[in-house]
Amino acid sequence: MSYDHVCRELVNNPLRWLVTGAAGFIGSNLVEALLTLNQKVTGLDNFSTGFQHNLDQIRSSVTPEQWDNFVFVKADIRNTDECANACAGQDYVLHQAALGSVPRSVADPLNTHANNITGHLNMLVAARDAGVKRFVYAASSSTYGDHPDLPKVEDKIGRPLSPYAVTKYVNELYADVFARTYGMQSIGLRYFNVFGKRQDPNGAYAAVIPLWFSSLIRGVTVYINGDGQTSRDFCYIDNCVQANILAAVAKDRESVNRVYNVAFGERTTLNQLFAMIRDRVAQKYPEAMGNEPEYRDFRPGDVRHSLADISSASKFLGYKPLFSVSKGLDMAAMWYMDNLM
Ligand SMILES: NC(=O)c1ccc[n+]([C@@H]2O[C@H](COP(=O)([O-])OP(=O)(O)OC[C@H]3O[C@@H](n4cnc5c(N)ncnc54)[C@H](O)[C@@H]3O)[C@@H](O)[C@H]2O)c1
Repeated sequence: MSYDHVCRELVNNPLRWLVTGAAGFIGSNLVEALLTLNQKVTGLDNFSTGFQHNLDQIRSSVTPEQWDNFVFVKADIRNTDECANACAGQDYVLHQAALGSVPRSVADPLNTHANNITGHLNMLVAARDAGVKRFVYAASSSTYGDHPDLPKVEDKIGRPLSPYAVTKYVNELYADVFARTYGMQSIGLRYFNVFGKRQDPNGAYAAVIPLWFSSLIRGVTVYINGDGQTSRDFCYIDNCVQANILAAVAKDRESVNRVYNVAFGERTTLNQLFAMIRDRVAQKYPEAMGNEPEYRDFRPGDVRHSLADISSASKFLGYKPLFSVSKGLDMAAMWYMDNLM
């Protein structure tokens, strides 16, 4: 079934969705997309790295009737009762809440473990007990670790290179065991460097795209870790939203209890990315063209190259990413230039 068809079916038959991490980057975009499809949505977040202003922005982009379909719960996935309350009565869970960032996990592995592993297990138990139809969760490309092959294919992974990568791999192991032990239906989505509106540009653990947009807009030095030839498969947020919705409603039994790469399927080096972001910022702030990057040491825990094979998501879920890196950066640029400064 095509994504358009799936969206039309959802509009005609609204369902109940729980999105964890709803005040964060990916979660808030999922909430917005679901409300736009007239779904009934509960958002859960503890605001550890998410923001009220992300929720406020959703409110201003949907109709008052669609906003009335939204319930926000300030809760913590480390608390089992709060997970159980949030899961009760839901059809689908899109579990996004976690502490992102490889360097954060290197600095504080205990905290990353508690949120990403204990929190995920609590959510699985709560979703199982509530009898939800399907549990879709944010996995990560970091699970490929030191495996050298490119492009990355789901069943060939290496050793994790950071505590964060361990947590995301353990998420997959628990989901798999819950499928076999309790008959739960789950799908893990291995996101590859997702970017787009509402991704936080501030703080020590900001991701590269929002950080560089904000540095170039504000006229601050841009640092490139390593020689700039490090590459990533950057994935625009709307592609990620599409994958989540398709994963939740996929009907074919064969498509369930698997993990899928979610990416665009193209590799961009950091040097290329810098040039693409600077060109876009310079359309509004011409002085950005004089901002030359400074190169510094590689970061511990980072993988050198990343590129996804997305044929499995395409075959089993009907995933067809509509936004290239270039088109996604056009969209992100508009948002960062309207929302920063
Ligand atoms: N952004 C990416 O490129 C990327 C890549 C791979 C995987 N992921 C995964 O996608 C998910 C979403 O990431 P994001 O980029 O939107 O990050 P984000 O930090 O913007 O969003 C995460 C949200 O989860 C919330 N949260 C964290 N711990 C919580 C807890 N204990 N209880 C309740 N809420 C909690 C935060 O407050 C935040 O709003 C995460 O699981 C992350 O590991 C993201």
